[in-house]
Amino acid sequence: MGNIKFVKENKEVIAANGANLRLKAMQNNIDIYKLIGKMTNCGGGGNCGTCIVEIAEGMENLSQRTDTENRMLKKKPENYRLACQTVVNGAVSVVTKP
Ligand code: FES
Repeated sequence: MGNIKFVKENKEVIAANGANLRLKAMQNNIDIYKLIGKMTNCGGGGNCGTCIVEIAEGMENLSQRTDTENRMLKKKPENYRLACQTVVNGAVSVVTKP
């Protein structure tokens, strides 16, 4: 179990190991999408790239980047993730809409 801290929103939520970051955010009314992503996101399929978040702390407590992420985030810093592809296994700090 771990806490997910959403830095911008100043909110901490508890997550069981194996929780999906996108779902956890949505369940707690954390907005991970910019306006365009709100209308066009792929619903967590790893196809749209709009669910990008920045990991401020706790990278080691997340699943490895998937091939999809490596492809979509090629030009982004290493601590950027697609929330829908990210599994949380411990404490982590997340910056939404980086
Ligand atoms: S929701 Fe589309 S890539 Fe994550």
